[in-house]
Amino acid sequence: MTLKSLRMRTIIPALAIILLTISAFSSLAVGAGQEFPVPPPPFTEGIFPCSNCHASMEVNRKKRELKDEHTKIRMHHAETMRWCLDCHDAKNRDKLRLYNGELVSFTESHRLCGECHGNLYRDWRAGIHGKRTGYFMGTGKRTYLLCAHCHDPHEPKFKLIAPEPPPFRPTDKRNVK
Ligand code: HEC
Ligand code: HEC
Ligand code: HEC
Ligand code: HEC
Repeated sequence: MTLKSLRMRTIIPALAIILLTISAFSSLAVGAGQEFPVPPPPFTEGIFPCSNCHASMEVNRKKRELKDEHTKIRMHHAETMRWCLDCHDAKNRDKLRLYNGELVSFTESHRLCGECHGNLYRDWRAGIHGKRTGYFMGTGKRTYLLCAHCHDPHEPKFKLIAPEPPPFRPTDKRNVK
């Protein structure tokens, strides 16, 4: 083997690794600025904009049982570690709040979830977790369901679905209407 071919053997894999690294980082960068078109957030009718009530209210930061409003909300989501105002901005109730203080709208609630559920967020963006419709590849339009369309952010455990009874035999008299 000549010295030259030996050198090429080491240079080519090294180049390949460098190129792969660059392309991995640039695709991450694309992901960061990417927009995720979503259907409207699944609010209860009439609850949004929250500022209709909250703009004129004093902020009460105390962790407590709510008695006058939102009484149906149950927190079963690492509730010992946090409170409503970790996710909802205290001053602007129409926005969610990321850990670094950045405010995001409810159409971007996936960014909030992604702060703690990094793996699932990555899967969601790739269309592996959750639901994505539209073009699979390329620049065609895709629509994503928000995490909140399937998980209640306050008690996110996916509710078990009651199984349907097995079908009857065709000859079973319960099939005859
Ligand atoms: C883990 C973050 C998180 C925490 C903690 C949290 N929320 Fe939310 N909440 C959300 C997100 C995200 C939505 C948006 C759901 C949607 O898109 O419809 C939401 C929606 C709501 C809504 C609208 C519900 C509806 O019926 O449409 C109210 C009211 C609300 N939150 C109040 C609260 C209160 C009160 C608490 C504390 C007891 C709380 N939230 C704690 C993330 C959180
Ligand atoms: C009809 C009026 C009304 C609307 C609309 C409303 N809220 Fe409230 N909210 C209240 C009242 C009243 C309280 C205080 C309840 C208590 O102390 O028992 C409250 C309390 C809260 C709290 C607990 C912290 C605090 O400031 O006391 C959060 C968080 C909250 N609301 C979020 C929301 C969000 C998010 C929305 C919109 C998706 C919303 N609210 C819409 C009336 C409203
Ligand atoms: C501050 C960190 C944090 C944020 C933000 C957060 N989660 Fe979680 N989540 C947790 C932790 C910790 C657990 C496990 C403990 C628990 O289930 O109470 C959990 C559990 C879950 C589970 C599993 C529940 C179960 O019992 O199987 C789901 C689903 C979930 N989160 C969805 C969401 C969604 C959707 C959002 C955005 C609205 C979100 N999370 C935002 C920390 C977070
Ligand atoms: C189309 C509905 C749908 C969407 C959208 C969705 N999920 Fe889920 N998710 C599910 C279902 C169904 C399960 C339960 C799977 C199971 O129990 O085996 C689940 C499970 C989870 C779990 C528990 C996983 C575990 O290993 O225990 C977490 C955490 C979670 N989802 C977070 C998220 C986050 C974060 C988003 C948004 C970035 C999201 N999900 C979007 C349907 C959805």
